[in-house]
Parts: sequence; C-alpha cells; structure tokens
Amino acid sequence: MQKLKQIYEGKAKKLYETDDQDLLIQEFKDDATAFDATKRGTIVNKGVINNKLSETIFGLLEKKGIPTHFVKRLNDRDMLVKRVEIVPLEVTMRNIVAGGMAKLLGLEEGIILKRPVLEWHYKEDKLHDPLINDDHALALGIATEKELEAIRKYSVKINEVLTKFFDSKGLTLVDFKLEFGRYKGKIILADEISPDTCRLWDKTTKEKLDKDRFRRDLGNVEEAYQEVLRRVMA
Ligand code: TMP
Ligand code: ASP
Repeated sequence: MQKLKQIYEGKAKKLYETDDQDLLIQEFKDDATAFDATKRGTIVNKGVINNKLSETIFGLLEKKGIPTHFVKRLNDRDMLVKRVEIVPLEVTMRNIVAGGMAKLLGLEEGIILKRPVLEWHYKEDKLHDPLINDDHALALGIATEKELEAIRKYSVKINEVLTKFFDSKGLTLVDFKLEFGRYKGKIILADEISPDTCRLWDKTTKEKLDKDRFRRDLGNVEEAYQEVLRRVMA
C-alpha cells in the first residue's frame, strides 16, 4: 500500500490517503509536544515504538470485541487504518489521580479512585481541550446520545482490558486518553494507544514510564518508552 496525498499533520502523526478511499496510512513521528505544543522536542524512535505498541494494543482490543481503526502495521513507522471522521472528543479514563485531575481538584497525585472516572474533553487546541459534560456534547451536536453511549461503553471496557494487560506486564495504568471516529455509521476506536496517551507507572517502584518524563523533564525519556515496549512484547 502506497502513501498518496498527505491529508493531515498533527503533533505526533501524519495521515496519508491510499488508493483505497476507505483506508489511510497513519505515520508515527518522533516529535513530542506538551502543554498545547508550547513545549517541543524529539523522543528518539518514539514513532517506531508507538507504532508497535499501538499495533499490539489495538490487536488485543479487537480480540476483546472492541472495534478499532487498525488494519495492519506496514513497516516501522506506518500503520494502515480505516478512514474515520473523528468525533471531536478526547475521552480520558482515570484510575488514579494524576495530571489534569490533580490540578483541577487540588488533589495529590497517586490517590486510587473508588471507581474509574470518564471525562469528556472537547477536542479544540485553541481552547486547550476544555472539560465538558454530556449535555454540552449533545447540545452542541458534538455527538449523538447513541454515540456517547457507545463511546462510554467501549471506554469502560478498554479500561478493564488494558488495566489487566498492563498489570500483567508490571505496569499500573493510571489514566489514558482515547479518540473515536465514525466509520460506516458505527463508532470505532481511532488514534493511538501508547506512552504518549497513557500514564504508566512501574507497579512496584511507581517510576513513571510515559510521556510525563518529557512533560516534566524527568530524563531517560527514550529509555522509558523502550522499557514499556520491552515489557509489552515480553
Ligand atoms: P491529563 O491528566 O493531562 O488530562 O491527561 C490525562 C491522560 O491523557 C494522560 O494519560 C495523558 C493523556 N493526554 C493525551 O493523550 N493528550 C493530551 O493532549 C493530554 C493533555 C493528555
Ligand atoms: N500533546 C499535547 C500537546 O502538545 C499535550 C500532552 O500530551 O501533554 O499539547
């Protein structure tokens, strides 16, 4: 499958058309940004690692009955995906307080939540992806009731599957972000699942093994991504 016209360039990925109008090639870059791209850098081989990790995780989720845009990995940095219309929502699932939730509610990072928290963020960089509720999403026509229901159901299930999966690899899934798209009238999981979009802590030492190492200048960023890949593939 050949890359034809580039139709999108985001902070971490590019999308290209192919000769099949239903399929796109998603290319993973090494570029890393944080805080609405006010902080920029490169994480060596991040694209290669996130491509492999996303392949493995999408494959696992498909096996568990969650429809995704993943078709196949083509090479180190490219993945063939279904062409979706992205629902402009960033869905955050949280098991442990960290990052945005700690800041919003003045909480210590590391508090284990009594039950997972699902947050809807309106995907709009210039507004800093604001936290919204179901009513906002419905009233503004961002998604339909049926779509929100499907997204919620899949997100809860993805959290259950991935929490168990990462736990078996010695990693605690603290929180993560998902994006969904519309494909032939159905909601499917899109984007990527990687240390860019998940917080992963070592189960015993609680060492951060995700993009927080870049966001917070903690050092050993590439090593952390490599370590996640090593454990996931083991
Ligand atoms: P937050 O605590 O900063 O809201 O992040 C929650 C989760 O979402 C965390 O695992 C990192 C991920 N995330 C993204 O994938 N993209 C983003 O732009 C942000 C802010 C967070
Ligand atoms: N990628 C996002 C940005 O550049 C933020 C993040 O992942 O922290 O704004």
